[in-house]
This record gives sequence, structure tokens and C-alpha cells, in this order.
Amino acid sequence: MTPLTQTPQWQALAAHRDALEEWHLNELFAADPQRFARLSLRCGNLLADFSKQRLTNETLDLLVRLAEARDLADFIRRMIAGEAINATENRAALHIALRAERSYRVGGKDVLPEVLATRQRMRDLSEAIRSGAWRGSDGQSINAVVNLGIGGSDLGPRMTTQALGAYVDPKLAVRFVANIDPAEFADTVRDLDPARTLFIVSSKTFTTQETLANARAAKAWLGAADPARHFLAVSNNVAAAQAFGIPAENCLAMADWVGGRFSVWSAIGLPLACGIGMDAFEGLLAGARVMDEHFLSAPFAENLPVMMALVGLWNIDFLDAGSLAVIPYAHRLGLLPAYLQQLEMESNGKRVTLDNAEVGCATAPIVWGMAGSVGQHAFHQLFYQGTRLTPIDFVVPVGDARPEQEALVANALAQSAAVMKGKTLEEAKSQLIAAGKTDTEAARLAPHLACPGNQPSTTLLMPHLAPDTLGSLIALYEHKVAVQGCLWGVNSFDQWGVEHGKQMAREILPKMLAGEGKFDASTAGLLSAIRSWRKA
Ligand code: F6P
Repeated sequence: MTPLTQTPQWQALAAHRDALEEWHLNELFAADPQRFARLSLRCGNLLADFSKQRLTNETLDLLVRLAEARDLADFIRRMIAGEAINATENRAALHIALRAERSYRVGGKDVLPEVLATRQRMRDLSEAIRSGAWRGSDGQSINAVVNLGIGGSDLGPRMTTQALGAYVDPKLAVRFVANIDPAEFADTVRDLDPARTLFIVSSKTFTTQETLANARAAKAWLGAADPARHFLAVSNNVAAAQAFGIPAENCLAMADWVGGRFSVWSAIGLPLACGIGMDAFEGLLAGARVMDEHFLSAPFAENLPVMMALVGLWNIDFLDAGSLAVIPYAHRLGLLPAYLQQLEMESNGKRVTLDNAEVGCATAPIVWGMAGSVGQHAFHQLFYQGTRLTPIDFVVPVGDARPEQEALVANALAQSAAVMKGKTLEEAKSQLIAAGKTDTEAARLAPHLACPGNQPSTTLLMPHLAPDTLGSLIALYEHKVAVQGCLWGVNSFDQWGVEHGKQMAREILPKMLAGEGKFDASTAGLLSAIRSWRKA
């Protein structure tokens, strides 16, 4: 395949960008009163407003042509056909099957039966725990579920459980421990009763050091309690889970065609199902299905995940944006940026294409953010008067009409408009004079109040934060990431870099602890300082 940056479609976009360079969003809106109508899309309960992105309909046409030139339709077909598109691990990436009600096939085998069987086991287990039927070692019911997992075995269930806090049964604590730092385990179980606590050890490989360390800490904390009454496991490595002491009947399998960061729909979602109940969990799946059906049927120019992917590529590769801010205007969506960090950066933080060539352009952005309106009092200053182009995804559940909720939503829309509109030098001067400053003072201060504006953003609007809208939102970003990976020609479904990091940690750890081994000068110097402090 022709290298991406040498395709005529890429060159056309670069030429188009040079022409657009001097455009300000204020001018683009002034030139086209129908801009919002032309550049916003809907799917089910989700509205995506791309009109504040620094592009025109011509830009989108050129981006769609790039997608067509990169055989995006064929990529999607191969993905849902269960082909091994994760070519470096020779696996399918068929997370779409986890929320499906139709058959998908991997290696010619229909996976729907195992998907439905897992969902039934999740229903049986979550109902037993929520109803009190599941008893601990001394016969008491369970009042706390603690998930032990990290990365995709933590962020999905943790983020969704927090996001759907309004749906979580207040009688059942659902908590999460990920870090190997013993403080997180200690803080999490401090007020829990071992007799009434059930641990879910979530680990696709069942080899992740943080999770195994926390599983051992849980065993010690439980004391004489029978592991069969206080441990469940979710893993693709059931043998290792059993070797740890978790009986087979307490283990739920996850398939190897499910990537960790795409796994919230699988048995990895069991903590969420315990918290909100399986009916509500099925609501999350239903919301994802709405987005899946849209993704698989809508023409690219009307396709939310494809448009999100193309707009992101435009910002990254043609406007040189290095980061993407995700700002959910909902306290309970506060973990969404962290969840999307793994989904985006572990999927597309890649530099080599599946043709074994350098990708030749920038790939995944640095994803960051925090819940609005809090971020306004932390980093929005940089959006207004900094030196960087910082695209923003505003995620806005409208919610009910209480005054505070109305104010929250108004803040989201106001910020999106303000970072785009900016404030001219003349407007700043007039504002200062109106505030009583002399002309001289106003002239001196105005440059410090002016804001260039033109910061691009997408607003994702939904009526409420509920299982269905959350499911659609997550599926939207999953498909966006897969589409960007296809366009860049990288494998979005492996993570060899992180494996290297894990290997480095494994090599250094025992030597560090034994105080031996040859290290680079920095590591050696740091180890020496640590040893001296430990001695003191
Ligand atoms: O970060 C590397 C990684 O392999 C992620 O892809 C994965 O979600 C996480 O570690 C945990 O892996 P496991 O579920 O196998 O414990």
C-alpha cells in the first residue's frame, strides 16, 4: 500500500490546509449560517457537533476520500468478519460481538453461544450477590465487591461504575484496586468486613504483577475465610486462576479475541453488573449496539465514529495538535479521560505500520482532561491565551432542569463558544474603558486580556447519563480508535511497548531488591540513594 503521506488524497489535504490556514472559526460561521446543521450528526441519543472544528465541508469531503483510499470499508468488513486484524498477535478484534444479539464468527466458529453463556453466568452471579443468596464463609451475605485488576481489567468497570453511580445499589459497595502500592488496597478495604467481602480477580493473562500482588494481599486480609466463598476470577487463563486457589466454578472466561481495553462488555464488566444489576448492564450493551449498527451502516460522511476519527486525524496531522482534551461536564464521568487515555494511547501510540514501515506522520494524541466545570479553574487559561492548539471533546449529558445542572450545561456550551470566539484587542480595550480605565491604561492592559480564540472543539451532547448513552459513547470512541488505526496503517490491538515495560520491571525488580546488577548510571545513582535512605 502506498505510504499514507504520499497518497494524492493526503497531498490534497495538505494543500487544502494551507489555503484554510488564515481562516478563523468566527469567519467560517459568518460565511455559513447553516454550519451547525451541516456539521452536526446524530446517532440514537447522541448528538455530535463538529461545527466548532477548524474545517469546512470541503475538508470533510477530502478526509472521506482519504478514508476510501485507505480501504476503510474493507478494514471494517475484515474486523467484523473475525479476521486476525491484530496481525502481530494473530488474533481477531471482535469486541463488537460481546454486546451483539447476532452471530459473529472467529475462525469459522460462531461465538454468540459463548457470549450469551457468559452473560447468563454474569446474571446468575450478580443476582446471587445482590439478593444475598451468595453467602461468605460464615454464612453472611456479601455487602462489598472489590475488583482487583489494572488497565483494561480496571478502567472499564471502574469508570462505568462511577459514571452510573445513580444506578448502583447503595446496599452494595463496589470498589476497585489497581495499583501495586499497598496503600490503595489498604484504603479500599479499611472499612470493609472480610466476612462480607467478595474479591473479583480480573486479569486476562493472570500474570500481571500488580493484580497478583493485590490478590495475595486479599488472601491474607481474608484470613481463614474459604477462597471459594470470597474470590471470583475473570481471565483468559483459568488454569492460572485455579492454581491461585480460585475454584473453576468461580472463574469466568474471557476470549483471546477481546483486547483488555475493549473488554468492559465481557465478564470484565462483572463488578458493574453487581453494582447496577444485569438488566441495567444489558442497557449498556444495547446502547453500544445502537452505535455499532450506525457505524456499520451509515455512509462515512454521516458516520459519527468515522467523522470523529477523521476530525482527530485532521487536527493531529494537518493542524499539528499534539493532544486531545476530553472534558466531561459530569462529575461522575470524571474517569472518562483516564479510560480514553488507555483506549486511545495504548491502541494508537504506535510508529510502525502493518506493512513494517515507519508510519510517517503523527499518530495517537496525548489524551488528557478532567470533569468540567472544575477544569475551568485549572487549565482553561491555556486554551484562551496559551501558545498551543488544543482540540477539546466536550462530553455533555444534559440531565434534569435543576438550577445547578442547568448552570453546569451552560458552562460547557459557554466554554466551547468562548475558546472558539476569543476576544479581540479592540473588544478588550472597550471592556477596560467601560470599566473606567484611561485610554493609556486600556492600551497597556488590552494585550493581556485579548484571546485569539479559534480553539477547535467537538461537543457530544446526550439527554442524560444512563446505561444506554454511556454504552453508545464508549462504542463511539472504540470505533473511532479502530478507524484511526486503519487510516494510519498501525495495529490498534497489540501493545508490545507496554510488554517491554513489564519485562524491564521484571528484570530490574529482583536485582534492585538484592542490591546487585549492572544498570545505566542514572538508575545506579538512584538505587544508591535509595539504599542510603533505607539504611538511615
Ligand atoms: O497495559 C498493558 C496491559 O496488558 C493492558 O493491555 C491490559 O489491559 C493490562 O495490562 C492488564 O492486563 P491483564 O488483564 O492481563 O491483567
